[in-house]
Amino acid sequence: MKHLLSTHNLAREDAIAILDIAEDMAQFGHRDVKKLPALRGKTIVNLFYEDSTRTRISFEAAEKRLSADVINFSAKGSSVSKGESLKDTAQTLDAMGIDAVVVRHSSSGAPYLLAHSGWIDVPVINAGDGTHEHPTQALLDAFTMRKRIHGESSRGRGLDGVRVCIVGDILHSRVARSNIWLLATLGASVQVVAPATLVPGAIAQWPVTVTHSLDEALAGQPDVVMMLRIQSERMKDAYFPNPREYSSVWGLTAERYARLNQSTIIMHPGPMNRGLEISSEAADSPQSVILDQVSNGIFVRMAVLYTLLTGAKGELS
Ligand code: CP
Repeated sequence: MKHLLSTHNLAREDAIAILDIAEDMAQFGHRDVKKLPALRGKTIVNLFYEDSTRTRISFEAAEKRLSADVINFSAKGSSVSKGESLKDTAQTLDAMGIDAVVVRHSSSGAPYLLAHSGWIDVPVINAGDGTHEHPTQALLDAFTMRKRIHGESSRGRGLDGVRVCIVGDILHSRVARSNIWLLATLGASVQVVAPATLVPGAIAQWPVTVTHSLDEALAGQPDVVMMLRIQSERMKDAYFPNPREYSSVWGLTAERYARLNQSTIIMHPGPMNRGLEISSEAADSPQSVILDQVSNGIFVRMAVLYTLLTGAKGELS
């Protein structure tokens, strides 16, 4: 595996190998000294053309914990504002001597272009491209589910038989796409819940079932309820009448949260629109693993970087 661009073609054994290495990374994460020398001498560029809090900081923390040298590039304040292209920006950074690129871009496919255009010849990691994919988010979500469900016996396991309900703005969600492919590979069953206007036309080809009723989906008591952010910044049209109606029909309100089994895991990739897709009662509840997702993101990204830059598979050497 040279790049991580998508979860669509990620083999089950490769996904589980990454999750297992992330288990090792988590062990180091709980020590006083969290740093490992694994990527000493390597230089990694974080190329962010779109805003981010969790992913950008988490990749930077992961790189530093592996002792890599880190270059942070943000399109804002760079020569992108003078019209510099992705190709010229990437080649400029490459000329400074880099070993990997982590890229977030508003255009779906930008990481593919970087990986396959021949402009640069280093591993490319997709940190979220447009409405297409966000593979490290899906891996950290799978890691978080596996840890909560299988606990200490997580290593080597997938998510066979786990029932996951993904709720909300599927149309614009790269998190949903990457999760759907990875969850299917790991053996989970996925139900998608959304207003008809926020379901992509291609959904019939995806390994999911679809319902438009959140109450019906929650009555089935899924193991995991993953709420998605309403991505207003990507909406040019009105997809639902108003936020109050969205919340009352498709939101994880306090009342719906109270109806869930106590074992149901509540997830959200962040950033949250509290009071819209998720209530504070649900987000801050003991069943919420939203902050675990953030913590685990560092371990999973360490595992991805370690795998791509050292060629290791399955265990920390
Ligand atoms: N989940 C996620 O990608 O969050 P950020 O946009 O803050 O990175």
